[in-house]
Amino acid sequence: MAEPFVNLKRTSYCGDLRKGHVGQQVTLLGWVHSRRDHGGLIFVDLRDRTGLAQIAFHPDASAAALEKAHGLRSEYVIAVKGTVNNRPEGTVNPDLPTGEIEVLATELVILNESQTPPFEISDRSEATETLRLKYRFLDLRRPKMQQIFIARHRMCQLIRNYMSAQNFMEFETPMLTKSTPEGARDYLVPSRVEAGSFYALPQSPQLFKQILMVSGFDRYFQIVKCFRDEDLRADRQPEFTQVDLEMSFIDEEDIYGLLEGLMKNLFKEILSLDVATPFPRLSYQEAMDRFGSDKPDTRFGLELVDLNPALKNSGFKVFAQAIEKGGVVKGITVKAAEFSRKDLDELVEVAKTYGAGGLVWIKINPDGWQSPAAKFLSDAEKADIARIMAAETGDVLIMVGDASFTTACTAIGYVRLHLIKKLGLEPSEKFKFTWVNKFPLLEYSKEDKRWVAMHHPFTSPLEEDMEHLDSEPGRVRARAYDLVMNGSEIGGGSIRIHRQDVQSKMFSLLGIQPDEAEVKFGFLLDALRFGAPPHGGLALGLDRMVMLMTDCESIRDVIAFPKTQKAACLMSGAPSPVDNRQLRELHIKTNLPPKEARE
Ligand code: AMO
Repeated sequence: MAEPFVNLKRTSYCGDLRKGHVGQQVTLLGWVHSRRDHGGLIFVDLRDRTGLAQIAFHPDASAAALEKAHGLRSEYVIAVKGTVNNRPEGTVNPDLPTGEIEVLATELVILNESQTPPFEISDRSEATETLRLKYRFLDLRRPKMQQIFIARHRMCQLIRNYMSAQNFMEFETPMLTKSTPEGARDYLVPSRVEAGSFYALPQSPQLFKQILMVSGFDRYFQIVKCFRDEDLRADRQPEFTQVDLEMSFIDEEDIYGLLEGLMKNLFKEILSLDVATPFPRLSYQEAMDRFGSDKPDTRFGLELVDLNPALKNSGFKVFAQAIEKGGVVKGITVKAAEFSRKDLDELVEVAKTYGAGGLVWIKINPDGWQSPAAKFLSDAEKADIARIMAAETGDVLIMVGDASFTTACTAIGYVRLHLIKKLGLEPSEKFKFTWVNKFPLLEYSKEDKRWVAMHHPFTSPLEEDMEHLDSEPGRVRARAYDLVMNGSEIGGGSIRIHRQDVQSKMFSLLGIQPDEAEVKFGFLLDALRFGAPPHGGLALGLDRMVMLMTDCESIRDVIAFPKTQKAACLMSGAPSPVDNRQLRELHIKTNLPPKEARE
C-alpha cells in the first residue's frame, strides 16, 4: 500500500554515496531496481538518476522496515532513511561506484507501487525498440538513457555559456511561420481564422535569423526545434534540434574559429578529450575526389585514385565512354585482400545501389591479373593502372566509372564505407573533424528540369566565380561550409547574399519569377532593401552530435520522445484522427473513411 509523502526530504542521491559518507544519516528516494531476499535479511538496490545504492534491511536496525521490505517489488517508489556503512569484508562490489558502502535502513516508506514492467529496466534489456518506444517512460529509466540525457543537458548548458561568453544573444523565432520552399516538405498547420490558409512549421529559422542581422542584433543563437517531412533514417528525425547561429560583418574564418572553439570546449568538458584545432579543410571537389563523399570519414585510408589517365583510350568501352562523356573512373586499392566471389559480388551490388552501372574488380594473383575485365586491358594500360594504384601481388583493385563525376565518386565512396566496415579497419582516432567548403552553388534537378540551390537560395556565390553565374551556373561555387565529424554532417551554413539585387538574381536563376519571389520571400527582399549588413551563419545538428558523442547508433536514442520510421510517436499515439468538429472549424474536409475503417 502506498503511503503519504510527508516530511521526506532527500539528503543524498544514491549514486553519490562513497566511503567518505560512512556514519552519516541519509534519506534516499528512488525506484527499487532489484531485491534479494536472504530470509532474515533483505537487500535492495535503489536507483535514481545518479546510479544505484545498496540498502540493507536488518532486524537489528529496524524490524518494522524489514517486515515492510518483504513487500517490495521492482519499480516500487520508496523513501529510505538509514546510516551509511562500510560493506562487510568480502562483499565489496568493485564494478559499482557505490560498491564499497551500503545503507542500513532504519525506516522505509513505500510511496507507490508498480505493475511488473514489460521489460527489465537495465542496460542489458533486450526489449524490441517498438516496446521500448511504447513504454518510453520506463525505457528512459535505464541507466544508459539517463546518462545520455544528462550529457545532452550538459551540452546545451555548455553551448549557452560559450555562446553568451562570445557575445551572442539567444532569441526565439516563430513556430507558426510561412511556408517557404527550402528543401524538404513542410509540416503544415491549418489556420482557423483564415480559411484555406496554412502556417508551416519551420524547417529552420533561416530567414528570421537573417532578419535579426538586418535589425542590428549582430550575433544571434538559438537551440531550436526544426521540422522536416522527409524520409527518415538512423540520423534523421522529422523534428530535430539545431544549434542555430548567425553573425554580422564576418567571413568564413570567423565561423570556423567560433565552431572550433565550441567543439574544443564540449569535448573537453563532456569527454575529457583534447580536440586539435584548427580542423582540416577540404573543398567539396577534393572531398569527392579523395573520399567519394561530401561528408568524408577521414579517419580511414582507402582513398580514391583517378584512373582517367590510364583508361581514357581503353579497349574497355564502358570506361572509355564514361571518360569521353566528361566522366571519371575512380579506383581503390585494397592491400592484401582475401575476398571471396561473394564478397566481390557484394561490392558490385553496393556500387549499383548508389547509381553506378557496375563495378570492376581485379585480383592481383601471383600468376597474373584475374578479372572479368582483364582481357580488355592492354599491357600498357595494366602497367599504368598498377602504377597509379600502387598495386602489388595479393591486392584487390576496385574501379567504378560513370559519365557523371558525382555518380562515379558517390558510388565508389559507398563501396569505400562498406569496405571499411567489412575489413573492420581501425580509425586513426576516435573523433575527427573536417570542414568541407566551396560546394557547388547549384545542382541541376532532372526531375524539376531546373537549377536548385545546393545549400539554400540565400547562400552567396564565391566572388571569383560570379562571372560564370549566367553562362555556366553549374560551375559557380558557394560560400558554403559543412562541419563533418566521423563521416557525419553535424553542421552546415554559409555566408549569405546581403544585397537585394543579387538575391533577386539568385531567385531568377532558380526559375522563381519576380512576382513569385515577392509572394514567397517578399519580407526578406524588403529587409535586404533597408541596409542589410554582410552576414553569415551555421546550424549544428544537436541530436547528431549527442548521438556521436554518447556512442549511440540511432538518433532516436538521444531524443527523449522520438518518432518511428513512419513519423509516429508510439507512446502518445500521434498522429491521430481528430473530431469532425475540429476539422470543420479548420475548414477541412477529408475524403478518407475513418481510420478504423481503413485498417
Ligand atoms: P541544414 O539543412 O544543413 O542547414 O541543417 C543543419 C544541420 O541540421 C542537422 N539536420 C538534421 N538532424 C536530424 N534530423 C534531420 N531531419 C536533420 N536535417 C538536418 C544536420 C545539418 O548539418 N538553415 C541552414 C543552416 C544555415 O545555413 O545557417 C540549415 O538548416 O546536422
